Amino acid sequence: MPTVLGIETSCDETAAAIVRAGAGDARGEILSNIIYSQFGEHARYGGVVPEIAARAHADKLDRVIKAALSEAGTDWDAIDAIAATAGPGLIGGLIVGTMTGKAIALARGKPFLAVNHLEGHALTPRLTDGQPFPYLLLLVSGGHTQMVLVRGLGDYERWATTIDDALGEAFDKTAKLLDLGYPGGPAVEKMASTGDPDRFALPRPLKGEARPDFSFSGLKTALRKTATDLGALTDRDVADLCAGFQKAVTETLEDRVTRSLARYRAEITDISPTLVVAGGVAANKAIRAMLERVCAEHGFAFLAPPMELCSDNAAMIAWAGLERFRRGESDPLDIAPRPRWPL
Ligand code: KG4
Ligand code: ZN
Repeated sequence: MPTVLGIETSCDETAAAIVRAGAGDARGEILSNIIYSQFGEHARYGGVVPEIAARAHADKLDRVIKAALSEAGTDWDAIDAIAATAGPGLIGGLIVGTMTGKAIALARGKPFLAVNHLEGHALTPRLTDGQPFPYLLLLVSGGHTQMVLVRGLGDYERWATTIDDALGEAFDKTAKLLDLGYPGGPAVEKMASTGDPDRFALPRPLKGEARPDFSFSGLKTALRKTATDLGALTDRDVADLCAGFQKAVTETLEDRVTRSLARYRAEITDISPTLVVAGGVAANKAIRAMLERVCAEHGFAFLAPPMELCSDNAAMIAWAGLERFRRGESDPLDIAPRPRWPL
């Protein structure tokens, strides 16, 4: 049965996983899924430092791969192909991951697959739930905010993207501004739960616009100005700012997502339309609840894979590689990593 080792090093997680699925299986079986998060390395800088990330990947990756093999209880003979993230992402980490993957492929005489990280996110609902094509994917992470039509394997259409910050980045910058630490999303969500979301008037960027894109930098600027005008912030101020930010973001997102659901309805013949959410921001309960409601209102099924597979991991890379491998594809060993690589 096709069994693939996946390697993920595009940002601040060093990850390796082994996934297996038969030729006709709709979903995959995750034999192991190891993630070493570099959280501790970057926390004191309030964000990911590319040079530190690359060094940490180089330092940890071989141990993470060994752990993936041992947890799966497999040896190299049982692995049919090696898949590594080749972009988009931080170039240092991408080089470490692809060089390692290629070296293993060469030494063990196995095919190599250079996987687009976004394709990994896009295909996750197939790995976990056997989701058939087509479907809509809302990817909301620290680096990306996109609405993607997933028509088929290798057939993706980007319908909307952020024109400035990614949504997770907006959460992180808000947390930094309010001294809540890194990563900021969970901290902002926690503070928001005790705050008054209506105390401050914050903008809803692009709300009401016909184009389906996203924008968050205007909101960030408004938040900074509001915080500066307040002077020394009390805990109450911080909670109210977080609550106001989260409400503004959720309302804007709802308006933007609704555009793409309407377009899907108009353009795609699909009797059971599905919206899938992926990326670290999918952990946010207010955003999740909004998406569930909006999907119900528009007759869409809503699918959120388990959090450990929504945020960065190597199981999704192994699965994307496996889907391509079982279709007979592989990549040459001289393929170069690409910091920018749109789907
Ligand atoms: O997908 P992910 O783990 O990594 C990539 O960026 O690819 O996403 C991380 C992002 C961070 O910006 C983090 O602040 C955000 O997801 N995040 C959240 C929450 N948990 C994580 N944002 C809002 N609410 C959360 N509960
Ligand atoms: Zn990601």
